[in-house]
Amino acid sequence: MNGKPLPKKAVASLVSYRPALGKVTGKAPIRLSANEGALGWSPQVEHLLRHAPLQMNHYNLPQSADLHEAIAKRYGLESERILTSNGSDELIGLICLAYLEDGDEAIHTQYGFLVFPQATIIAGGKPVVAADGDNLTVSVDNILAAVTDATKIVFLANPNNPTGTLIDEDEVRRLHAGLPSHVILVLDWAYAEYVRDGMAYGARMVEAYDNVVMFRTFSKMHGLAAQRLGWGYFPDAIRDVLASIRPPFSINTLASMAGIAAVEDTAFQEQSMAHNEKWQKEFPARMAELGYAVLPTTANFFLIDFSSASQDGHNGPDAKTALKFMADRHILLREMTPYKLDDYVRMSIGTDDEMEEVLSAFAALRDHK
Ligand SMILES: Cc1ncc(COP(=O)(O)O)c(C=O)c1O
Repeated sequence: MNGKPLPKKAVASLVSYRPALGKVTGKAPIRLSANEGALGWSPQVEHLLRHAPLQMNHYNLPQSADLHEAIAKRYGLESERILTSNGSDELIGLICLAYLEDGDEAIHTQYGFLVFPQATIIAGGKPVVAADGDNLTVSVDNILAAVTDATKIVFLANPNNPTGTLIDEDEVRRLHAGLPSHVILVLDWAYAEYVRDGMAYGARMVEAYDNVVMFRTFSKMHGLAAQRLGWGYFPDAIRDVLASIRPPFSINTLASMAGIAAVEDTAFQEQSMAHNEKWQKEFPARMAELGYAVLPTTANFFLIDFSSASQDGHNGPDAKTALKFMADRHILLREMTPYKLDDYVRMSIGTDDEMEEVLSAFAALRDHK
């Protein structure tokens, strides 16, 4: 048989999610397009990485017990249930590869994180969308209505990216109670660090049920996005399955060391939390004074609404114009077209100086014709 190598059909038809973080020329940009931590990284991490005795010719440990212990201690967890990964993206991929047979369904929410359907398709599964309810918020009823005999996984990002919305513990527990026991509920808690109580009930659900997993990341508040470090909290059986298919050395030595220093630096975490809480309130209020509508957020980013209805009677700029106007000023925000939220722009919370500069730019955009 002759012919050229072809990828499997699901992969060939994939609309790949490759986030455009934006580009500018000239001076260093203010990058608020990727939901990264505003305050950089912990000084403890900086110190450690500068002085660490490096052993580059040796493979790292497949799992670092020290890192697991540090995470367990910080968040009040059982360390044997933890599996670390090359970012939490890796865990999203692995759970799909391990638990979806061809054609099995994985439910994600309408404005949920785009890696969920991508990972589902790569694994050979079928993504099923559950429409969101009011205010771009997850609807538990719609998720439960989407469950069929073919459903194997339900993905819930809470707080959700890109909307910044949150559903409460009662709703998450109601969702779980309505699922058959063979369906895995993925609690993607990437932004839980920004919620004051830490949403510890997610871990309690993992400990109580065989079909709940929780994914976390060092990419946001801990400021280690470039190190690629995530972790999950699992029932034993699911942890063992994922550990058996995860590439053995997917976490590099520096990331492991940085993770320990980051998770132990609760002073830096509190500083980041206070900074985030301040701008969660201040930014929407100051934008409202300028005539812009900003959706309330529970995370470290906002959706700015450019639909004309939100412009308070003013025929203001549209999202595309705003993105270009900001990029021309070296300010990178994220376009929401891949999420079919064309009238919105997503913006991460930056440093105080960055936020002031962005607010001035929005004032200038308002007067720009
Ligand atoms: C909801 C959600 N989950 C997971 C991730 C992946 O994080 P990482 O792979 O950097 O750990 C992100 C990153 O933006 C996210 O928004």
